[in-house]
Amino acid sequence: MLRPEDATRRAFLRVSTMSCLAAAGASGLLTLRDVRAQSRAGNPQFVPDLEIQLSAREDHVPILPGTPTRVWRYDGKVVKGDPGNLAFLSSGYLPVLRVRRGQKVRIDFVNQLAEPTIIHWHGLYVPAAMDGHPRNAISTDQRYVYEFEVVNRAGTYWFHAHPDGRTGAQIYFGMAGVLIIDDDEGAVVGLPEGPNDVPLIIQDRTFDDRNQFVYLDDDKGGMMGGGMMGGGMMGGGGMGQMMVRMMGFLGDQILVNGKPDFVLSVATRPYRLRLLNGSNTRIYKLAWSDRTPLTVIGTDGGLLERPVTRQYITLAPAERVDVWVDFSGWPVGTNLMLQSLTFDGVLAMGGMIGNTSLPSGSSFPILKVSVDQRSNTKMELPARLTSLPAVRSQDAVNAHNPKVFNITMGMMVWGVNGRRFEMNGVAKTETVRHNSTEIWEFRNEESMMLMAHSMHVHGLQFRVLERTIQPDFRSGYRTLAAGLVDDGWKDTVLLMPGERIRLLLRFASYTGLFLYHCHMLEHEDSGLMRNYLIQT
Ligand code: C2O
Ligand code: CU
Repeated sequence: MLRPEDATRRAFLRVSTMSCLAAAGASGLLTLRDVRAQSRAGNPQFVPDLEIQLSAREDHVPILPGTPTRVWRYDGKVVKGDPGNLAFLSSGYLPVLRVRRGQKVRIDFVNQLAEPTIIHWHGLYVPAAMDGHPRNAISTDQRYVYEFEVVNRAGTYWFHAHPDGRTGAQIYFGMAGVLIIDDDEGAVVGLPEGPNDVPLIIQDRTFDDRNQFVYLDDDKGGMMGGGMMGGGMMGGGGMGQMMVRMMGFLGDQILVNGKPDFVLSVATRPYRLRLLNGSNTRIYKLAWSDRTPLTVIGTDGGLLERPVTRQYITLAPAERVDVWVDFSGWPVGTNLMLQSLTFDGVLAMGGMIGNTSLPSGSSFPILKVSVDQRSNTKMELPARLTSLPAVRSQDAVNAHNPKVFNITMGMMVWGVNGRRFEMNGVAKTETVRHNSTEIWEFRNEESMMLMAHSMHVHGLQFRVLERTIQPDFRSGYRTLAAGLVDDGWKDTVLLMPGERIRLLLRFASYTGLFLYHCHMLEHEDSGLMRNYLIQT
């Protein structure tokens, strides 16, 4: 049934891509011409080892029994190199891209969505023009050719859409994939491989009674929903929706690799599970149902020096952990659940727990492990996995004077030090010297709404120096603090209400404009993102 407001809305939507761009142009940020000019052709001098044709398009995939679900997805194929380097998870629409350190990769990307998009390679060291900055977003039918060398350590990374104000919606509707980097070091350690090396992307979604994803009320994944600039806060269902746009969206059903009620069938032998929190805002407190401790061998930027053990793992949006688990410890026939345990979700959500049957901090199953095959493969987990450079805070140019980044909120807009995202805006404190090391301190104590944030810095991997939590927040913090894994190289880190966190960052790869932001995507889309500039 087409209501008159739908018709008007449709007419409005048809021009909204243009008007949004025009509006952006009016604020001096981008014009339609600029966006056209952003389309990037390949460089004929660049000779790739691996070349992939990738598109973003709408699709309908079976997720729940009955009607297929409309998704936005990456699709494509390898045109040079091993065809197996681009595969799809069992749900059929979430890709896994596998590359090797040292490889030269070309990704020829075409946008077949009805709105602008661009891809960010989360955690990778790539030139600024390859990093998926929203100012490089391309319109429908335009192409962006990515060319870069893989210089990161082996590990579990990911890639996802990154347009201004629409990252939350696009990732929600499916625009994300796992990116695995392999290298020779990884092979030497002797870790489970092939079918025993399993990527698991955890996401929460809400479905309507026709099996379609529900995001914010005024956005059914149609065309343009909220505006590119403001996130369209006044549109849609009034106060409740406005709060969700600010506080974050929580789905009421857990999908693993794009599927509900996920079952991982395993043999009695060791596995490497690569867990990625691909959710918009939800924090997970991961534990085995029989309370067997979890053994973490890697975090965002690859292997840890040595395995660490946790009773539970706290995983914020965009964080990854690689877990070693030897299922020979359970008899064939065992069903084991990976769960999320209760924590102070009210604290995490700034006093709200979300309008969902799965509130923040509640306990629920994530996936079932069915130990159903016998295997005699024995592997020992090495006590030492790799060596990492020492964390030397004295190397920082501001070792005694950390740069302070306060998470702020004013007029219902998130920001850092009182500034919301501006397409090209960089403050003085956000300018750093190439090849220098700095200490940054994120503080979550000043905004009128204190919520957890998942702070991510583009263009590098950093080290976590220290955390301090204010006394008033300690009791809630204790409900998930023991699950934080700050070891190793990180690109995303959970910052709880009342917390300060110091990071050591070295700006030694590429120069140019990069982003740092909260990876709770509704926060990001409503201002909690800024540029930083690496200058020679
Ligand atoms: Cu995965 Cu700018 O984000
Ligand atoms: Cu946030």
